[in-house]
Amino acid sequence: MNPRLPLISAIAGSAALLALGLSGCKSGGGDTIKVGEFASLTGKEATFGTSSHEGTLLAIEEINAKGGVLGKKIELLTEDNQSKAGEPANIVNKLISRDGVVAILGEVASSRSLEAAPIAQAAGIPMISPASTNPKVTEVGDYIFRICFIDPFQGTVMANFATKTLKAGKVAILTDAKSDYSKGLAKYFKEQFAKNGGTLASELDYNGGDKDFKAQLTTIKGAGADAVFVPGYYNDVALIAIQAKELGLGVPLFGGDGWESENLLQVGKDAVEGNYFSTHCSPEDASPKMTAFVAAYKAKYNKTPDAMAALGYDSAYVLADAIQRAGTTEGAKLRDAIAATKDFEGVTGKFSLDAKRDAVKSAAILQIKDGKFRFLETIAP
Ligand code: PHE
Repeated sequence: MNPRLPLISAIAGSAALLALGLSGCKSGGGDTIKVGEFASLTGKEATFGTSSHEGTLLAIEEINAKGGVLGKKIELLTEDNQSKAGEPANIVNKLISRDGVVAILGEVASSRSLEAAPIAQAAGIPMISPASTNPKVTEVGDYIFRICFIDPFQGTVMANFATKTLKAGKVAILTDAKSDYSKGLAKYFKEQFAKNGGTLASELDYNGGDKDFKAQLTTIKGAGADAVFVPGYYNDVALIAIQAKELGLGVPLFGGDGWESENLLQVGKDAVEGNYFSTHCSPEDASPKMTAFVAAYKAKYNKTPDAMAALGYDSAYVLADAIQRAGTTEGAKLRDAIAATKDFEGVTGKFSLDAKRDAVKSAAILQIKDGKFRFLETIAP
């Protein structure tokens, strides 16, 4: 499996289309500033895209209500990639060459950001991922940014959590072999856990979307792990937790930001109770920024925002701030303005972008208690 193969033709196609599309200079002269967003609004990871989109849209509406940027309203063009490989490339091609967007916001899942990033880079259109944590995403090039921390940090945070808080000496790891995010997070976790003197009980794989994890969980049970690290997405994690409980595994499961979804609670129910994961922020944070965001989000959507919603919101504000500072939406100037983002006061905390175009910021650890995500601690970089 090589998910990058179809991309070669996709990129070639985009360059050709762009050469045609740019002649009209559509994005510069119109009466709105067009911003493209690609998100998993449906499909396997539907809650990721829905949350990030809702946060993004709320921010854009607020910005427009205050007059927009450079005297223009921002027009958000959102496309659903159905959580499917192949779609991000199609969509981002379309947004850039057909719609003439000046920037791209998205995606949450690292594999999907990795698919789209080479297209934005080749077109010279800045892309800001709100939530993709795999380091490779921004390594694609100098037009690709993220406003979240990266997995070498998240993996380290969770390895230290395993050692210090869980007091686990021996951990099993269950990785999604189809996800760049999952493979990366497993790797960085392992590196730090070994440094802490921990050992691995076993290391096993599954393919995202699988329904039966009993074989792997039986092996893990036999290997005598103190805890199981599951760096996957919520839909798979919920089933893994249910089957672990059925098999009487009896040790904590813990993971990363991919766990965060109401669906984890609804599907996993008592099987996920007591378990832990790292993420970007908590709506329980009492900062004025978070408090105001939670209130505005609740008023609009009648629910509590999760980390993806907060990151989507911050990504739109970071972009608007950069457009304002650049004084233009021209690609290279906008790129430089985004790169210069410093001490940005976001809902997800105060952060700067580093030389690798990644945000440097704290992680939060949450625990599932009484069917809710409860804030446990903040870990600074
Ligand atoms: N960090 C995950 C990835 O890179 C996506 C994610 C972000 C999921 C935030 C949940 C919350 O794939």
